Amino acid sequence: MIDSASSLSSLLATATQACQRVYGRTPQWHAVAPGRVNLMGDHTDYNDGRVLPIAIDRYTVVVAAERQSGAQLRVYSLALEEEISLSLADLAHPHPQQWARYIQGVIAEYQRLGVRCPAMDIVIASSVPAGGGLSSSAALELAVAHLLEAVSKHQVHSYDRIRACVQAERQMAGVPCGIMDQTVVDMAKAGHAMALDCANQDATPVSLTLDNISLLVIHSGVSHALAESAYAQRRFECEQAAECLGVSTLRGVVLGDIDLLASSSLCKRVRHVVTENARVQQAAAAIQKKDWDGLGALMTDSHASLRDDYEVSCDELDRLVELACAERGVLGARMTGGGFGGCAVVLVERAGLERIAASLQEGYLREIGHQPECFHVTASAGARALNARPS
Ligand code: GLA
Repeated sequence: MIDSASSLSSLLATATQACQRVYGRTPQWHAVAPGRVNLMGDHTDYNDGRVLPIAIDRYTVVVAAERQSGAQLRVYSLALEEEISLSLADLAHPHPQQWARYIQGVIAEYQRLGVRCPAMDIVIASSVPAGGGLSSSAALELAVAHLLEAVSKHQVHSYDRIRACVQAERQMAGVPCGIMDQTVVDMAKAGHAMALDCANQDATPVSLTLDNISLLVIHSGVSHALAESAYAQRRFECEQAAECLGVSTLRGVVLGDIDLLASSSLCKRVRHVVTENARVQQAAAAIQKKDWDGLGALMTDSHASLRDDYEVSCDELDRLVELACAERGVLGARMTGGGFGGCAVVLVERAGLERIAASLQEGYLREIGHQPECFHVTASAGARALNARPS
């Protein structure tokens, strides 16, 4: 059965109540950021390539009550039932907890932009599954960024905000990510995918009126840990390939150039990047023409490329995609995001949504021994502060 996400208003209510229960205070500040599903273009962003993500109706909410004194931030995560504290006077040393580093990194980057973070008690509630490849980290970063801007009444340009969050992830959390997640999580338009050219950050909204088609997300249950994974290794391989080809990035490389590379594994990495960039443009065109069969076929081709050439899938994700593609009413499926676990996104005929979800869950449980979380997503708006009561 399809899992229903708690609505944004109920997440907010949950976070507000927790702030009252844990800290005895009513929050004055609220901010929200969505997760994302990438429809096409994975592992292309850090190659100055193209991507086609949507922000989804799964959210991270942060609420905060300001304290009058002290230089500490207390942060309570409802999902983890865990509290951390951060010294605002010493943000340089990465916190032992990984999730705290995203917050710490954003605050440190905002300090550099001249935005001061006051002592606060913060509660986080989220319906974005952590480690699912749906940008739970970018959602946390952008929610904190908008919260800081609301509290300080200092709005920064979206490019500075995105850069601060990307830097937080790279410097503090140690993930050498590209710019896709933070850009779409911040700037997405409801009802639209975002065709993003990562070479110049040019973001074009692509109207995504799915009519009788739906997007189903299924979590393989394998949690990806990008910091420890081969993500950095893949990035390094692309840099090596670019160096061998005498170019600064893989953006302008064409399929014929691959023959110039001596290493067969570098050939495969480059082939993925070149073909995936082309698929992004084809997928955006298919969406514009409402050619859902075409979009589905491109998604399934993309999965094969991520699996065979880029080698960032895993057995469980591959099986999920195979099971999905064998279902009547499925137009295509692929892993989404960084890979090594996390979620698959499946394009389905809306009429078959419940049947397909139930059958996939059953098949996956039977074969892998785990009942996967399964939910339907729609293209949602980017991150924002929700309101700011005058303090
Ligand atoms: C992670 C990174 C992104 C991008 C994807 C793969 O989500 O944060 O920058 O590289 O993996 O497309």
